[in-house]
Amino acid sequence: MFSNRNEKCWCGSGLKYKKCHLEFDEKIESYRLKGHEVPSRDLIKSPQDIEGIRKSGEINNGVLDLVASKIKAGMSTADIDKLVYDYTTEHGAIPAPLNYEGFPKSVCTSINNEVCHGIPDESIILQDGDIVNVDVSTILDGYYSDASRMFMIGEVSEDAKKLVTVARECMIKGIEAIKPWGFLGDIGAACGEHAHKNGYSVVRALGGHGVGNEFHEDPFVAHIGKKGTGMLLVPGMVLTVEPMVNEGTYDVFVDEVNEWTIYTADDKLSAQWEHTVLITETGVEILAK
Ligand code: MF3
Ligand code: CO
Repeated sequence: MFSNRNEKCWCGSGLKYKKCHLEFDEKIESYRLKGHEVPSRDLIKSPQDIEGIRKSGEINNGVLDLVASKIKAGMSTADIDKLVYDYTTEHGAIPAPLNYEGFPKSVCTSINNEVCHGIPDESIILQDGDIVNVDVSTILDGYYSDASRMFMIGEVSEDAKKLVTVARECMIKGIEAIKPWGFLGDIGAACGEHAHKNGYSVVRALGGHGVGNEFHEDPFVAHIGKKGTGMLLVPGMVLTVEPMVNEGTYDVFVDEVNEWTIYTADDKLSAQWEHTVLITETGVEILAK
């Protein structure tokens, strides 16, 4: 249908098309004919791509583990930036945020009412009671991985703890909703339902994304949605699931000065966790966490 049956498969496996992705392509085509949005071929990773993203993810995990072991009250977010830059480059990789569309640092550090894209700075000191998201993205041999975690600094309020916990549960439920030959809307439906059940809102203006050969690929992964809608999910796709969960309104605004940092519109708390996941024949493999 797409290539000659006896020619080598487009995926780079070296196998004949008929022995490799022919049936897969026919299955996707059948969904397309039924009216579903389907992924283009460039969103389906080759085995080599997957191995590359997996290795990138291992370094990304190492960065976050290092941050987890060091982060504490009194540190500046520039100190975190230095940890990230040094570890990443010592492992032969590049911090993906650095110079990305003009972003000036190696990591995003977003505290309390900051939703995401906080810029590390020597003047920003982590305080007892803060909740902070550290969002790390790595390029290794051209392959991208992306993950973030929340950290609670010292004694944190019960409200903040609950938000951080529920935000993580939203991410996990979103990932658990991913099934090969399921739909993108299944993810948002699961994230959104759990957030709303707990009285929280989910940021709509930003979301997850395809990742791997570029920092941000299609599709846009919304963290609210309706089951069974949106792009078909197939084995070989790599996505981030990264719900931003707010105590109050889902509305946000951008810092007018630095044009990066996103804040909650009502100054209430926001929390976010992010994993990079590969869709497999049977479910998902987490490539960065
Ligand atoms: N890591 C963010 C994400 O999850 C992207 C940050 S872009 C940057 O998509 F330039 F701010 F780093
Ligand atoms: Co991301």
